Amino acid sequence: MTSISSAELLITTFGSGPAPQITKAPGRVNLIGEHTDYNDGYVLPFAIDRTTEIALRPRSDRTVHACSTAFRGVAELELPIAESTPTGEWHDYLIGILLELSHHVEFPHGFDVAISSSVPLRAGLSSSAALEVALALALTRLYGIGLDDVEFVRLCQRAEVEFVGTSCGIMDQYASLLAQDGSALLLDVATMTHRHVPIDLEDTSFLVVDSTVRRELSHSGYNERRRECQEALNWLRDTLPERRLRSLSELTMRELDDVKYRMPELLCRRAAHVVSENERVRRTTEALVNGEASTVGELLYASHASLRDQYEVSTPELDFLVEWGARNGALGARLVGGGFGGTTLHLVSSYEKRRYVEGIVDAYKRETGKRADVWGVRPSPGARQLNEEEDR
Ligand code: GLA
Repeated sequence: MTSISSAELLITTFGSGPAPQITKAPGRVNLIGEHTDYNDGYVLPFAIDRTTEIALRPRSDRTVHACSTAFRGVAELELPIAESTPTGEWHDYLIGILLELSHHVEFPHGFDVAISSSVPLRAGLSSSAALEVALALALTRLYGIGLDDVEFVRLCQRAEVEFVGTSCGIMDQYASLLAQDGSALLLDVATMTHRHVPIDLEDTSFLVVDSTVRRELSHSGYNERRRECQEALNWLRDTLPERRLRSLSELTMRELDDVKYRMPELLCRRAAHVVSENERVRRTTEALVNGEASTVGELLYASHASLRDQYEVSTPELDFLVEWGARNGALGARLVGGGFGGTTLHLVSSYEKRRYVEGIVDAYKRETGKRADVWGVRPSPGARQLNEEEDR
């Protein structure tokens, strides 16, 4: 959390000048559809009311100065960026985006940029996608680069995968750019098309409970799961050549059942998660359309069980938070994001919210000795440019 705005930070760091251009992009929680995006499946995230905000002012030379409320110091770069290696610092995201944009523009001038963010870092709420999308939106406008939405989100994803070095899927950037207020975004990754699904579950609230456990394993574990999915797909292609499978998401549970006694057990469980999770996304969408909060909740619990048992990306802390939810009246709960630490999402009765928050913080402390951070989230709009007079 931060209290200083990006515009204030810009002025205190770089001095006063013309009014800056302000751009905001949100973090996201994934309601359901975990580890399906890189298997060309379905995801159902919504943007949250935690955003990364950028204040940007052009310069007359070709220098870039960047600062952030989350990190100390000022990064200084010269345009055009020479091919470089990642520094391991936060401004790698900026370098990655600039390298990608260099395919579209010759950078006639530089800029000063200040960043402030209320998206918690490394909690599984896509602080990096929020940063990439806000930067890319501000810079495509600054340099007059026209990209369609899919090109835009792919550019942000490439900056992260190819420069920063995190092999993420496409969900986070897509949701941060295109989410709509009050809705989840149903994305079909195979076709890169989406539709908005209003979330109108009477008298319920979403809470995010951050286990505050950050595991280095999250990076290697994520890559390992991606590799295992590829191996499962290869095995299935060899075994069912007539199916010409392009992804695990094209498989049905019946087909998987037919081969499961021959398939390596671990690969079968990974595939089972993907196939069943896609089906849960479909059923959750239906339940949202029908306003069935209890069905949504059951599907969240089922997703967590699959992530824990079949996909094995949970942790004792995340399991504890979800199980506490089940014992204390949550309609549903599950880990969100890549797993191996991070946060859980809880769907609770709005009337019980306060008691629930106090109870879970207390129980988590007693169980683990750690502090859990809890806050309410609501489906919020995607990235946007703000006019100066707009309320920030
Ligand atoms: C991370 C990635 C996403 C997605 C999730 C798991 O958050 O950035 O693309 O793969 O993990 O669903």
